[in-house]
Amino acid sequence: MFNRSLLVSFVFILVQFVSLPNETNSANILGFFPGPSKSHFLIHSSIADALGRAGHNVTVLSVVPNVNKNGKYNFIHINSSTYTDDFATEMINNPQPAYKLMSHMLSNIMEMANETMGHPTMQEFLKNHKKSSFDLIIYGYFMNEFHFGLSAHFDCPTVVSFMIQPMLFLNDLVGNPEQISYVPTMLSSLKQPLTFLGRVQNFLASMLENSLMMPLLNYENNKYYRTYFPADQYPSLDEVKKNISLVFTNHHFSQGPIRPNVPAMVEIGGIQIKEKPDPLPVDIKQHLDSATNGAIFFSLGSTVKSSHVPKEKTKMWFNVLSKLPYKILWKWEEADAPGFSENIVYRSWLPQDDILAHPNVKLFITHAGQGSVVESQFHGVPMVCIPLFGDQPANALNVIREGYGVSLDYINLNAEDFKNAIVEVLDNPKYTNTIKQFSVLYRDRPMSARQVAVFWVEYILRHKGAKHMQSPAVFLNNWQLLSLDVIGFLLTVLFVVILIFVELCKLICCRSKGKSAGKSIKTKKNN
Ligand SMILES: *[C@@H]1O[C@H](CO)[C@@H](O)[C@H](O)[C@H]1NC(C)=O
Repeated sequence: MFNRSLLVSFVFILVQFVSLPNETNSANILGFFPGPSKSHFLIHSSIADALGRAGHNVTVLSVVPNVNKNGKYNFIHINSSTYTDDFATEMINNPQPAYKLMSHMLSNIMEMANETMGHPTMQEFLKNHKKSSFDLIIYGYFMNEFHFGLSAHFDCPTVVSFMIQPMLFLNDLVGNPEQISYVPTMLSSLKQPLTFLGRVQNFLASMLENSLMMPLLNYENNKYYRTYFPADQYPSLDEVKKNISLVFTNHHFSQGPIRPNVPAMVEIGGIQIKEKPDPLPVDIKQHLDSATNGAIFFSLGSTVKSSHVPKEKTKMWFNVLSKLPYKILWKWEEADAPGFSENIVYRSWLPQDDILAHPNVKLFITHAGQGSVVESQFHGVPMVCIPLFGDQPANALNVIREGYGVSLDYINLNAEDFKNAIVEVLDNPKYTNTIKQFSVLYRDRPMSARQVAVFWVEYILRHKGAKHMQSPAVFLNNWQLLSLDVIGFLLTVLFVVILIFVELCKLICCRSKGKSAGKSIKTKKNN
């Protein structure tokens, strides 16, 4: 009798023990990824997938179709991309000065973000999901700050995912220090340590970001925010922005630069890279397996389509590649192929990460998008870069500086330079050795990027937004952050004290002069 009740209570405790954590652990999480780039989507959706595999119920809303085929989440496609071919063609073939491109790009991006929010699928989704439907939202960041109003709508914590190292806009969200005296800003493309002139350049670049881009960003976001989150129902955008729990940055300090991060800025560099590659499609696997002499993977990324590049240029690339003694895997629409050769296979979409993991791949010809460079670094494959736009030229510069490969100028590229670059990187072992060494360093971490992402999202869930982790810097303006108000105050006090002191001196001086003058008059009189 006694034993049985003991057993019952034991089982009861056991059941509680087993079922309780499950209950609290499985959260409803929304991944809102309205950015128009497949490579960004791959990064954000990797976080969603990691959370799904950790037992959470994850829903992903995205403008980009679900290219993360095995992702463990419910996928809803917002089919509204206004990202036209003309835009990309213009950007790569008629490069413009950065400041012009910035405002052009920003207004395009914001229009897209607006269309996403107003899209019938999105509005239907909001109608069907009332307050408290979600325990947490992860936003793919692409300037789309007005979307953060969704957290106020669902009354839940906000986590932001960013594709590269933190830049001004992201730092601003969680009060992460800019430290322009030694941390290069995004626009400066400098490398640590900064020389004096480098610091001057970095200072000016930071001024440009702070005084031009930041107001532009705020203006654009405020313009759209009230359309969807009216003042009688929702707090201001500013309030929503000061309520962000965590920012994930797809960066790792081993890549440099070294910078301080507040607790709410968490590095998950390389989360899109699988620790164990998926099996390759059979035909691709055969092509690479048979490349006993080595294989070259050629891809200009997900944004650029074959139709964006002039025919003469692709013909020239083909002429060089088809004569090489290597197998080539070329990410290109086959219908647009510049020619056919036994050593070349074309595919419009390729599992890049799994391909770079193949031991026979000896070289990656890339547009130097951040995602591609990181995958190359992870797998230790040297690069020939052909940067096109955005942060790609800066990434390519970094590839050269670190010795991971060489870079070519897309606009003026000729056959000879193209061939020489390929031969140089393949025949000179220094590139392969350097990047293989870095690969070891990059992988050396206490937890994998996916484990880190899951831990911190669950931490935010457990602590209901983890308000205690927020830096007070979020509530300070630039003057206060730099203590300029304090310096101003102290200088004023000092000035006043000196003034009083000077006046006092004058007074004492005058008095004693007056006295001595009086004395002398007296003495004169006496005389
Ligand atoms: C702020 O975040 C908390 C959870 O961290 C959430 O409940 C609340 O609705 C959010 N408020 C706004 C204005 O976003």
